[in-house]
This record gives sequence, structure tokens and C-alpha cells, in this order.
Amino acid sequence: MTDLRTTLAGVEFPNPVFTASGCAAAGQELDGFFDVTALGGVVTKSIMLAARSGRATPRMAETPSGMLNSIGLQGPGIEAFLEHELAWLADRGARAVVSIAGGSVEDYARLAQKLRGRPGLAMVEVNISCPNVEDRGQVFACDPRAAAGVVEAVRKATAPGVPVFAKLSPDVTDIAAVARACVAAGADGLSVINTLLGMVIDVDRMRPVLGGVTGGLSGPAIRPVAVRCVWQVHAALPDVPILGMGGIRTGLDALEFVLAGASAVSVGTTVFGDPTAPVRVLAELHQALQERGFDHVRDAVGLAHRPPEAYLPERPDPVGDDQGSTA
Ligand SMILES: Cc1cc2nc3c(=O)[nH]c(=O)nc-3n(C[C@H](O)[C@H](O)[C@H](O)COP(=O)(O)O)c2cc1C
Repeated sequence: MTDLRTTLAGVEFPNPVFTASGCAAAGQELDGFFDVTALGGVVTKSIMLAARSGRATPRMAETPSGMLNSIGLQGPGIEAFLEHELAWLADRGARAVVSIAGGSVEDYARLAQKLRGRPGLAMVEVNISCPNVEDRGQVFACDPRAAAGVVEAVRKATAPGVPVFAKLSPDVTDIAAVARACVAAGADGLSVINTLLGMVIDVDRMRPVLGGVTGGLSGPAIRPVAVRCVWQVHAALPDVPILGMGGIRTGLDALEFVLAGASAVSVGTTVFGDPTAPVRVLAELHQALQERGFDHVRDAVGLAHRPPEAYLPERPDPVGDDQGSTA
């Protein structure tokens, strides 16, 4: 049996499969389909200080192999979240990864402060794909200095021993530069990736489909981009743990992320079509690791970076002859 335990910045999780922020609220609904404590952790929808009704409808559009959403961080605000959602996760015995979002560094710091000492809190994920109201709406995650400012404030306000993960946006030229800035500012790990900015136009109405005009693209369509980002971040910062995500639908998809350098993965958009996907992905990943002869999932983390002649457990070399073509 492959040992699935994984350690993220000193915190051990029973296995490496988590939900993705915004795709499973705080887990209550999924718990009707499977026991959410069976997952490594539950990543909650990004929470802001105040309640928010989100953006105009329609908020979702199907795209080829993916989905576009512009929910606009609808949520109950931190106080109601702590009382009803985090408390529920703690009672249930789940490991909560609480995602926070704000419009200023001060917002993020206050949110982190409110999470201090809360039962059930395993980790904080900082959603920096938000517009900075103090800088013309420039998205924090797209500017290494702005991203670092948020991370530094959250790290300072978060209890020692609770890892802070910064969630990176793929909508940048050099994701490794943003990753380095976040880690230099105190991030204990990185979540890779958030959605890609996209847009769909209804050619009959001849108007944008989404009420919010643009939205975040997710699902299998973005998986190669996500795997590339995980690869680049792991290559730049091999000792920094990564929670990888983007279009994971099967255990083999999850294995791709692990081989690229992720120590754990989040399953997001897939749950809208298959609410049992996270536990299915977990079982399939387990099987895939066993079939490949791994005693421990950690032995597979980042393995694809090693040269083909490097150690591979009892399996033929998976690298084919045709390495040159990109067509
Ligand atoms: C409907 C929806 C809502 C999302 N809300 C959030 C959010 O609140 N915070 C966040 O950091 N990411 C959010 N995401 C992004 C996901 O957590 C994830 O990073 C992204 O969708 C890629 O993974 P996937 O393709 O498996 O969904 C959301 C994604 C979707 C589809």
C-alpha cells in the first residue's frame, strides 16, 4: 500500500487530495455525498470581511472542456463564516484550509487576525487574485511587490505553526518571480493555480455572456497551463510545498501535478458534474501510485524533473523516443 500522507510546511495531512476554493463552499453539501474528513483537507470559498452578494448574473458559462465563472466572491462575511462554516468543519473533524480575500493589505491582515486560534484551522490560503482598491484595481497576484505585501501582513497576523499558502495567478509573464516574492515575504507554500481570465460572447445577442463580462476559466481546458505553472514554480523553489490545481478530473491528472512538483492537489470544477470526484480522484491516485511501485506519495513529488535515467520504481522508462517534436 502506498503511504499517502503528505506534509505541507510542517503540517501533516492524511492524504494529498483537497477540495478547491469556491467549488465546494465549506464542504457541507459535499458531505451529503461522501465523508469530507476522508480528504486531506477542505479548502473553503474565499471569505472577505463583509458579506457580499457577488457580480451580476449570468455568472457561469460552459466553454470547451471548461467553465467560465464570474461569481465575484459572494459570501457571508468572516463573522458568519466563523460561526457557521468553520465551526461546522471543526465539529466534523475536517482539516480546514481557509481561503481569504480582500481589497487591501489591511483587509487581509484583519481576516488573518480573526482566524487566529480557531479550532479546525489547518492552513490559510491567501487568494491574491483580487483587485487592489488602493492601486487602481491592479490584481495583487500580478505584481510581485503587491503580492508580497499581502503575504507579509497575513504571515505576521497568523499564528505560528499555521502555514500560509499564497495562491498564484497564471495570468502573469513570470510566475516564478511572483512565487519567489511571496516566499521571500513569508509564504510557507504556494497554491498553483487560480483561474485564467477569459471571456465568451453570445453571437446571437452579440453581447458578452457573463454579467461581469470577463470571468475565470477553469476545468480540463486549463490543465496543461496549470501543470506548466507547477513545474516552473517547483523548478524555481524546489523546497517550497505546492498545492496544485487546475482541471484535475482523474487520479492520473492528479499524478501529473505530483510529478510536476505538487505535494497535494485540489479538485475544483469537476465536482460540479461529479460531487464524489475528490474521493474518486483520491482512490485513483492511490491506485496509480501503487501500480507504479511507489511506497510513499512523497517519492513521486517532482519526479518528472529528474533526468530519465534517475531512479524510477520498478517500471519501464516512460520517456518515449519522440522527444523533439512539439507539433
Ligand atoms: C465557481 C468557481 C469559484 C471559485 N472561487 C474561488 C475563490 O473563491 N477563491 C479562489 O482562490 N479560487 C476560486 N476558484 C478557483 C479554483 O479554486 C481553482 O483554483 C481553479 O478553478 C482551477 O481548478 P479547477 O480547474 O479544478 O477548478 C473558483 C473556481 C470556480 C470554478
